[in-house]
Amino acid sequence: MKKIVIKGGFPLHGKITIGGAKNSAVALIPASLLSDGVCTIKNVPNITDRDALFDIVKLLNGDIKQDGSVIRIDSSNLQNTLITQELSVRLRASYYFMGVLLSKYKHVEIYFPGGCNIGSRPIDIHLKGFKKLGAKVTKNKHKYIIKADELKGADITLNFASVGATINIMFAATKAEGTTYIRNAAKEVEIINIADFLNKMGAKIKGAGTDVIEIEGVKHLDGAEIDVIPDRIEAGTYILMGALLGDNLTIEGIIPEHNKALFDKLSLMGVKYELDKNSVTINACKHLLPVDVTTLVYPGFPTDLGQPMSVLLTQAEGTSKMEETIWENRVGHYPYLVKMGANIELNGLVVTINGKTPLHGMEINATDLRGGAALILAGLIADGTTIISDIDYILRGYENIINKLSNVGAIISLEEI
Ligand code: EPU
Repeated sequence: MKKIVIKGGFPLHGKITIGGAKNSAVALIPASLLSDGVCTIKNVPNITDRDALFDIVKLLNGDIKQDGSVIRIDSSNLQNTLITQELSVRLRASYYFMGVLLSKYKHVEIYFPGGCNIGSRPIDIHLKGFKKLGAKVTKNKHKYIIKADELKGADITLNFASVGATINIMFAATKAEGTTYIRNAAKEVEIINIADFLNKMGAKIKGAGTDVIEIEGVKHLDGAEIDVIPDRIEAGTYILMGALLGDNLTIEGIIPEHNKALFDKLSLMGVKYELDKNSVTINACKHLLPVDVTTLVYPGFPTDLGQPMSVLLTQAEGTSKMEETIWENRVGHYPYLVKMGANIELNGLVVTINGKTPLHGMEINATDLRGGAALILAGLIADGTTIISDIDYILRGYENIINKLSNVGAIISLEEI
């Protein structure tokens, strides 16, 4: 079994280049199937979630050509087949094939999606949206059958600004007859990236990035080209590493505005960083101030950075609070931080962190993607050696993380143990 081995305490110096956003790429790849032609997606991150999506596209008879981070998907011979359980459970984003295939064929059969265990992760808001557009949803044990005689534009108000539901309903409405409004839509920047792609194919979508999205249905979508936006969560993870270990560490290929909530908290904590148009240079802060953090929908502090942020808080001098409000179970890494020496009181989703405490290397387990990234950060600042198991969670969303960190001075390796 492969494990990540880290010898902690080394400063990080040099440049880390950020890849394309996982949460955009995992929607852009299914989105390309809405076209009847050839789509090109650039800056696709090299993560295992990408490979799982490729396997689903191939099952549907899509033709994929890959040249590094550029992929070309030809959907002209697509076939609408059942997406098997084995494929759909490999990642959360398999649910995007629901909206896409419903839109294209008015019929989709797919097993429940998979993904990290960070809460119950229902998809009721997606399904309600599909029903509003005229679809019938049948659940058969672990399989969904979603069918429509015709899809008609509708006025849909989401009871929570769900990222996945906003994108999935946008997909389903793209070729529906008439106009759809999605109200209380999620405003995450990835949604703008996806709407841009669909509009380049010929869709008529307005308002992505605001809380009302208007979609005027069209009959046909052509091929198009899109760049995946930079991964603000990958960037944020390395920025947090820089706040603890940076020696002029530069994170490049970012859109600083997308990480504003994180930068605001770092400023409050006393972290010094220099922003450029597409990069930030950051130095370790010796005396970090405590701060309270509540995760929120965009543009609030992202839930996907809550766990890495909690490691920074263990090094602040005083008491900080970390409250998770989006997912019920994003706390799996805390017991390991406590074992490593952190002083943390867990009270449901409100966590009190008393710093500053030294952390000690030991054998620990990644429990989910971002929790795993948090443990890498803990290992990098701990004394001694940290060995992390269950690293598949981490490789699902961080491209070349071992190389990216080794190149800036971290002593980190992937080892068969
Ligand atoms: N929710 C429902 N019903 C639904 C959909 C969501 O109750 O039909 C609830 C969820 O259970 C959760 C909350 O609403 O409590 C937020 O869910 P949302 O739908 O916004 O999340 P998602 O689309 O499933 C995406 C990212 C997540 C990220 C969230 C929030 C992808 C593939 N995943 O998930 O990313 O945390 O948005 O920003 O885009 C990660 O990258 O580590 C990750 C988990």
